[in-house]
Amino acid sequence: MIEVKNLTKRYGATIAVNNISFNAEAGEVVGLLGPNGAGKTTTMRILTCYMPADEGTATVAGHDIHENSVEVRKHIGYLPENAPLYTDMGVVDYLNFVAEVRAIPRSDRNNKVREMIETCGLEKVLRKDIGELSKGYRQRVGLAQALIHDPAILILDEPTAGLDPNQIIEIRQLIKKLGAEKTVILSTHILPEVEATCDRAVIINDGVIVASGTTDELASMGKGKETIYIQIRGPQEDIESRLAEMDQVAGFRKLNEPESGLHRYEVNSHGNTNITEALFHMVVDSDWSLAELRQVSASLEDVFRQLTTSDALAGKEERE
Ligand SMILES: Nc1ncnc2c1ncn2[C@@H]1O[C@H](COP(=O)(O)OP(=O)(O)OP(=O)(O)O)[C@@H](O)[C@H]1O
Ligand SMILES: [Mg+2]
Repeated sequence: MIEVKNLTKRYGATIAVNNISFNAEAGEVVGLLGPNGAGKTTTMRILTCYMPADEGTATVAGHDIHENSVEVRKHIGYLPENAPLYTDMGVVDYLNFVAEVRAIPRSDRNNKVREMIETCGLEKVLRKDIGELSKGYRQRVGLAQALIHDPAILILDEPTAGLDPNQIIEIRQLIKKLGAEKTVILSTHILPEVEATCDRAVIINDGVIVASGTTDELASMGKGKETIYIQIRGPQEDIESRLAEMDQVAGFRKLNEPESGLHRYEVNSHGNTNITEALFHMVVDSDWSLAELRQVSASLEDVFRQLTTSDALAGKEERE
């Protein structure tokens, strides 16, 4: 349904999107996952023909984005990052207007608008102007305008941003339901979003695809690379030189001292090693004492962090 081939987009010296390629089939929800500034919005703007690529191309429902942008747009429902809604229009008038622009026959428009109001939970704000709406309700109106013409392809740039927790669950369920028939590409930097809604994820960082696969496949990339938390009472310099000598240790980082004389470390293994046992013996052989020895297996979140941060260990401690 969507085939992206070697897309590149530059802003001056910044390469926002760097030679990326991926596909999305009908009945598939694909998550574009990446940190701020990764190039998610830029990719979506190119696919929706809001902006041309510098190099490469994409076909959407069989139409080339450069050669047939009118057809491409017809098949797409797009929720932009900051939904550019007409702030002085009422919610119902706006949806009627979108229905007209989307060439929905006059006789169907009222029904369609009503359907969207129900689907997106807009009953409470029907009489308001869009400018008066809270962020979450504006997001819902943005979703309604993306869905109203029943497009085969949905491109949703951070669809749950600004929604309350109940609405997040509802919208995720809606996306999953829509994804059974449509092709959905959504962007997010929230991992639970990918786990809850996507069949596949494409992880993008600094404009480059660093991994892609099903959520299970991605999570299993991190398997075997355990992280160990260890607290040792002993002389810091000696502890650190012993850790550095160990074959099983890929790297370690000193964490905050829980109490004076007790040294806490986050240790990364090379994977598939008996590192906890080796650490235990190292401490015992050195006549030090052990206050903590805990092994944490890699999750999708770890994989994401490993792939999208220059320092794989940075920030891990705060999630514990
Ligand atoms: N109009 C622009 N002019 C110059 N640089 C831009 C412009 N739009 C985006 N960029 C740059 O391109 C890169 C990718 O930005 P993009 O908005 O695609 O990221 P994103 O993955 O959507 O991030 P976020 O999660 O913050 O929405 C960033 O380095 C950004 O600063
Ligand atoms: Mg963005």
